[in-house]
Amino acid sequence: MTSVPFDDRDGVIWLDGAFVPWRDAHLHVLSHGLHYGGGIFEGIRVYDGRPFKAVEHFQRLHTSARELNFRIPFGPTELDAAMRETIRHQGIVDGYVRPVAWRGSEQISVSGAGTSVHVAIAAWEWPHVFSDDAHSRGIRLHTSRWRRPSPDTAPVRAKAASLYNICTLARDEAEAAGCDDALLLDFRGYLAEATGANLFLVIDGALHTPTPDTFLNGITRQTVLALAQELGISVHERHIQPEELQQADEVFLTGTAYEVQPVRAVDGHSFELGSVTTMLSKAYTGLTRSAVVR
Ligand SMILES: Cc1ncc(COP(=O)(O)O)c(C=O)c1O
Repeated sequence: MTSVPFDDRDGVIWLDGAFVPWRDAHLHVLSHGLHYGGGIFEGIRVYDGRPFKAVEHFQRLHTSARELNFRIPFGPTELDAAMRETIRHQGIVDGYVRPVAWRGSEQISVSGAGTSVHVAIAAWEWPHVFSDDAHSRGIRLHTSRWRRPSPDTAPVRAKAASLYNICTLARDEAEAAGCDDALLLDFRGYLAEATGANLFLVIDGALHTPTPDTFLNGITRQTVLALAQELGISVHERHIQPEELQQADEVFLTGTAYEVQPVRAVDGHSFELGSVTTMLSKAYTGLTRSAVVR
């Protein structure tokens, strides 16, 4: 797939309180965040020109900063205003916003002391993560040898750039195996999530989803759980063994970028695109496209 490189686009990026030309949004090569993983980010979808669940995303950005022991020098209200201005400047109708924060280059020891914190917000048009065919028929997952770490090994409640190292390794391995994405287990061997989305199984009409104790309790996951409750679908949040996938009639993923994404197969074991996934996908689309709930 060819696309325009992300450092060579038109428009502006909000950087530390002001708009700069897109191509000039640089950081120094000796930034602490680049060397030691002191970076966090968010992904927010824009539907019909409006950001979805922006408050929740900026709250999580601040939570992620706390987990990594730094403070973002802009409050949620300032960041929200900057995001809306970025969306307007770029003329985004259906797209994606990427707020990112990282430790600067005041010093280069492992200690984070004395580092400034920088923040940027960029936005671009972006319809689907996967091809239209995979998006509608379902994606194929490959169970990874990489696992989600335990909460005393890594800051698992943060949307921290450093944690995506595992995701990139797992995703590359899955694509090399001819699949679309990876399925990761946690350090205990329970089902965890995909590289950028949470996991749901449908067993006998009920939803089963892993307890989010080693990975992000996604904003989309929480939205879909609320929709399931409204629709009278029973939900079981629990530790799930990988063998239980064999009992599932339907499997899907949820995430800001993925939305409600059906899974067609895991390691060659197939699933149908069933009624529960379809119902929740429609309900989620209705919510994101409604002008009322933001
Ligand atoms: C690793 C990972 N898990 C889960 C999610 C789903 O989170 P959300 O629904 O808040 O986008 C994401 C995406 O942000 C992610 O990157």
